[in-house]
Amino acid sequence: MNPRTFPPSFAFGVATSSYQIEGASFGEGRGTSIWDTFCRTPGKVANMENGDVACDHYNRWSEDLDLIQSLGVDAYRFSIAWPRILPTGTEATANADGLAFYDRIVDGLLERGITPWVTLYHWDLPQALEDAGGWPDRRIVDRFVQFADVMSRHLGDRVKHWITHNEPWVVCHLGYAVGEHAPGIKDTRTSLAAAHHVLLSHGAAVPVIRANAPDARVGITLNLCPADPASDSAADRDATRYFDGFFNRWYLDPLYGRGYPTDMVRDYVNRGDLPEDHPEVLDGDLETIAVETDFLGINYYSRAVIRDEPADDNLPQTEFQAPKEEHTEMGWEVHPQSLEKLLVRLHTEYGPDALYITENGASYSTPPDAEGRIRDARRQDYLHTHLEAVHNAIDSGAPVEGYFAWSLMDNFEWAFGYVQRFGLVWVDYDTLDRTPKDSALWYRDVAQSRRLPVRNP
Ligand code: FCB
Repeated sequence: MNPRTFPPSFAFGVATSSYQIEGASFGEGRGTSIWDTFCRTPGKVANMENGDVACDHYNRWSEDLDLIQSLGVDAYRFSIAWPRILPTGTEATANADGLAFYDRIVDGLLERGITPWVTLYHWDLPQALEDAGGWPDRRIVDRFVQFADVMSRHLGDRVKHWITHNEPWVVCHLGYAVGEHAPGIKDTRTSLAAAHHVLLSHGAAVPVIRANAPDARVGITLNLCPADPASDSAADRDATRYFDGFFNRWYLDPLYGRGYPTDMVRDYVNRGDLPEDHPEVLDGDLETIAVETDFLGINYYSRAVIRDEPADDNLPQTEFQAPKEEHTEMGWEVHPQSLEKLLVRLHTEYGPDALYITENGASYSTPPDAEGRIRDARRQDYLHTHLEAVHNAIDSGAPVEGYFAWSLMDNFEWAFGYVQRFGLVWVDYDTLDRTPKDSALWYRDVAQSRRLPVRNP
């Protein structure tokens, strides 16, 4: 087999998010986010860790931009901490220190020849907005639009790639249905209201971003999890339909103009999670959500294998785990074939103009060896097989235009704290020193040559 090559226009990038790397959680006018609060609530985050310091990117940003440049990538995806800009979410004017920080990032990237990709919402909601009702309350839509307006007005002359939301399923399901993420609420009915307002805020923000940055490309990022039935039984196949509906179609269908999937509305009604219909959906909402976008961002980590065995009240089926050696340290199965299948499915069933992998990567904690080298061959293999899957999907016609590795460096992995390490670059949390792992050097070669070497079997 010949090495696979990617076209010059294909964007290779690395990704991060604000709360996971910035630190500097207090001062400089930053307000409190729901993650500051959640991390201080006992029993929520491993070892009660928090993002107060994280990777101290807020202070080490210049060194970090040099690091990104040294990886030879075309693009860098990062997110804006909403409470740095609008500390309580309702201020009439933005916090100048917050804007200045993102000016430094954007200008520093452009000086280094790296394209900035901005995610507006990567989960650090101002606590005051949660106190006022959070995503389940419709009034948050206007607040998000104001935030999008402030940011796109300020950065729109320099930032040409905008992502409204990162992973609505995580925001709504983990945040409001099972309480594993901030704000820690456990109510499915509430989470469905939240999901509607997240989608609605996306739809309402897109035209505002376009008005402020007319030549920008705007989209949304979903985390999608392909599902396969554990057996051919009708029960397992139906449980798989449910999982796909709950995880993937609930977001894809309204975004692509199909409204909420009727089989899922029926299931939620039967389970008592919705009344006869979806009461949050008002006239015109579905049209707003289905606004035309320039790309769909996909975060892909794993697939699910579904068996019809009720696990708890929130999921009527169990996910089945493949053998241990095929898992990352998150316990997620390594399954690149599902990424290929997913990309082809999105292309044929939803037809977005462009697809970007906005996150893909793996948690392995391989520490530095005696010489200080980090031989993370399993991460390299993960990236390699998944880039092969992307290339195969392109060969099958899927318009995939870029790939962002998650993550630039080890960082605060939400409820898992600092134990899980997804970085291409090792972070020593005592000294905050950064050391590129073997996978980073490998990724640099791929990004620079736009060529994927043939893998040793
Ligand atoms: C995704 C998140 C990202 C990171 C990776 C591992 O769900 O978007 O912030 O936590 O998972």
